[in-house]
Amino acid sequence: MGKKLLLKNIKTLVQVRDTAVEWVAGADMKQLPSIENAWLACDDGLIADYGSMEDFPGITDWKDLEVIDCTGKIVMPSYADSHTHIVYAGNREGEFVDRIKGLTYEEIASKGGGILNSAQLLNKTSEDNLFQQSLNRFHEVIAHGTGAIEIKSGYGLSLESELKMLRVIKRLKELNLIPIKATFLGAHAVPKEFKENKEGYIRLIIDEMLPAIASEKLADYIDVFCEKGYFTAAETQRILEAGLKQGLIPKVHAEQLSHSNGIKTAVNCNAISVDHLEFCSDDDIALLKKSKTMPTILPGAAYFLNLPLPPARKMIDAGLPVAFASDYNPGSSPSGNMNFVLSMACIQYKLTPEEAINAATINSAYAMHLSGNVGSITPGKRANFFITKEINSYSFIPYSFANHLIEEVFLNGCKYTR
Ligand code: NIG
Ligand code: FE
Repeated sequence: MGKKLLLKNIKTLVQVRDTAVEWVAGADMKQLPSIENAWLACDDGLIADYGSMEDFPGITDWKDLEVIDCTGKIVMPSYADSHTHIVYAGNREGEFVDRIKGLTYEEIASKGGGILNSAQLLNKTSEDNLFQQSLNRFHEVIAHGTGAIEIKSGYGLSLESELKMLRVIKRLKELNLIPIKATFLGAHAVPKEFKENKEGYIRLIIDEMLPAIASEKLADYIDVFCEKGYFTAAETQRILEAGLKQGLIPKVHAEQLSHSNGIKTAVNCNAISVDHLEFCSDDDIALLKKSKTMPTILPGAAYFLNLPLPPARKMIDAGLPVAFASDYNPGSSPSGNMNFVLSMACIQYKLTPEEAINAATINSAYAMHLSGNVGSITPGKRANFFITKEINSYSFIPYSFANHLIEEVFLNGCKYTR
């Protein structure tokens, strides 16, 4: 920090907003304010100013000023990835092969695979080992352009292992690389020991896990997998309300595999976001319109599990804001590459590149209460952004799917290297 940085000759400076907006919704999502042939100045880790090269500032104090020439390159605010599970142990490529051979995600889960498989692996893994595995993924997503992230627990499913996961998230936070929000997802699945006693597990979440997590201040949010075979809408509401009492704001995994009234519950509890939404109905869209809850699409999970596509286009056309995030996790989306998320948003969901970039920056920042800190090039926001290779336009990023177009990542105004 304390450093002064000037980027000049930027081909396009993307997502410039003079004042911070909370989110962009409906037809406004088509607007992506950008400056051609631009400069950007950062000071002390924050965005200081920007403009067109035609009005290049007369700099008198060149001392300690690092200047970067961005001729032919595009500068974008880093992605905000508002839904991930990057803290996990091992992997589940065996289940991936089982699904190719014909088993469904639900069939694998009912045989003790799925989330319970990851929970078993995580239980056997030490906190230090879990931290190392998670740290690798953390650096991987930063190199792909993520500059703020939400990370969930939910592969512990016991007091001790949920705390282990949340302590790993805390250690990642303490690296002070990018803003991190921690979510307690104890209600991700019912563990084996409670197979015949779901009520007992809900009591464990409410009476033991939540107070312990709150007293160590280990979480910002509470989340529930509201789904057939997992937690009902009534159970979801009960768990979210218990979390709220401990100061945790709700987020919900909703309508992913079936319509389970997760959206209705999330809106009732003033959730900051409601995520997945494959089985979102027209009534749900009407409910969301009256709320401050951010509908969040996780295209990686729908792609990986071959699920029906959530109605993102319909939501935007109805005037809603929409966020896109990666859902990076070992079972339904083993990738956290937000560039590919942009491609899926455009190719499968028919968002324009402008809508997709708004969805993956400012709107996803809102879904973790960070739209005042990141998600746009705005004076006073954190200088977290990336410089692309030489490309013609920002549309080339989603167009050139699965390619690596980022040349350099900057966090807090400093060049990021692992
Ligand atoms: O967001 N939907 C529930 N949870 C995760 C997947 C969990 C897993 O299979 O490990 C998700 O898709
Ligand atoms: Fe998830």
